[in-house]
Amino acid sequence: MESTALTRPVISATGLWTPPHSISNAELVQSYNAWADTWNRENEAEIKSGLMEPKTHSSVEFIEKASGIKSRYVVNKDGVLDPDIMAPRLPERPNEQISILAEMAVHAAREALKKAGRDPKDVNAVICAASNMQRAYPAMAIEVQDALGIEGFAFDMNVACSSATFGIQTAADFIRSGNAKSVLVVNPEICSGHLNFTDRDSHFIFGDVATAVLVEAEDIAPKQHWKILGTKLKTQFSNNIRNNFGFLNRTAPEGVGAPDKLFVQEGRKVFKEVVPMVAEMITAHSSELGIPAGELKRMWLHQANANMNRLISSKVLGHEASDEESPTVLDTYANTSSAGSIIAFHKHSDDFRAGDKGLICSFGAGYSAGTVFVEKVG
Ligand code: COA
Repeated sequence: MESTALTRPVISATGLWTPPHSISNAELVQSYNAWADTWNRENEAEIKSGLMEPKTHSSVEFIEKASGIKSRYVVNKDGVLDPDIMAPRLPERPNEQISILAEMAVHAAREALKKAGRDPKDVNAVICAASNMQRAYPAMAIEVQDALGIEGFAFDMNVACSSATFGIQTAADFIRSGNAKSVLVVNPEICSGHLNFTDRDSHFIFGDVATAVLVEAEDIAPKQHWKILGTKLKTQFSNNIRNNFGFLNRTAPEGVGAPDKLFVQEGRKVFKEVVPMVAEMITAHSSELGIPAGELKRMWLHQANANMNRLISSKVLGHEASDEESPTVLDTYANTSSAGSIIAFHKHSDDFRAGDKGLICSFGAGYSAGTVFVEKVG
């Protein structure tokens, strides 16, 4: 495509697909406690002799207080809640059938395309930006491209919980450089496949979902859209959130089932290190763009933890944020990795009028963080 200098990128529309099954904290805690009781019975001798620590019960009160999470959506409920399984059970699909992750993304993408009135034939690229990829290759993004009948190119990228904002900046750069006019960014997340449901400290954290963001050149966008005022990305290495799942798994002594092949974190360190990093990044980027915090109608923050978001928003705003200023979807969706800030944006932006400004912000493993300042048009 011919280069047109500095075409302005905008967000034309977003889409959301929510799995049909929800698990409440009470249901999750009941199955965890049943699993812990069995584990303690099976290891009674070692526990009595002091060789092993018994597993203590999880609690609904702790989960809500520590995270703000009340329930989460999952693609498979029975496996997660079965104390003998403690993991989603999804039958493997034949290669001829669309993969589960791509299928979820297609649902969300269709909503975004419909809202923008965009024919898939006029989309130039698909980016699948997500944490929890289903396989190595072919890219899920190419599968989504194929299912929707999109021409052009597609690829996957993984920047953990920050994948969506990294995807939006990548798409925006394609627009800015003139390499594309319309880019579909999808964020399908089966977080439950990477969560250790037998780890009391984190078994409640994640949920499954898919979101889509259509990033386009201003001149083809629908009348109502979101001008992208500026994007910024940051990474800083940390071992405090890891998932060692990969395609060399079998070289590890315990193989695929080892706990480090799932999500693990030093939650308190993450809290202490990521909050100041993100608050400083938002403040620096907003002053660079000449947007004082008081001009921001809303911050759609990554949805990892309610207390983290409370602290970040109060550092940025200088006061405790109201639900209007920093809405949460943690209560119903839990942490959905890359999709969290996009769900918040999708669900809590209809009241915006032309000229209102907001911030989409993500943060997570890497560490990684991204800021996308937007202004409503139309
Ligand atoms: N049920 C009941 N009690 C629990 C529990 C559970 N599921 N998990 C932990 N506890 C207990 C601990 O044993 C500990 O008890 P103690 O004080 O008697 O030792 C107490 O609760 C505090 O545990 P801790 O893990 O330190 O909790 P916390 O208040 O720091 O909250 C996180 C834990 C993970 C929710 C919190 O650190 C956090 O949100 N960190 C941000 C990281 C994040 O969200 N990352 C996601 C990826 S971006």
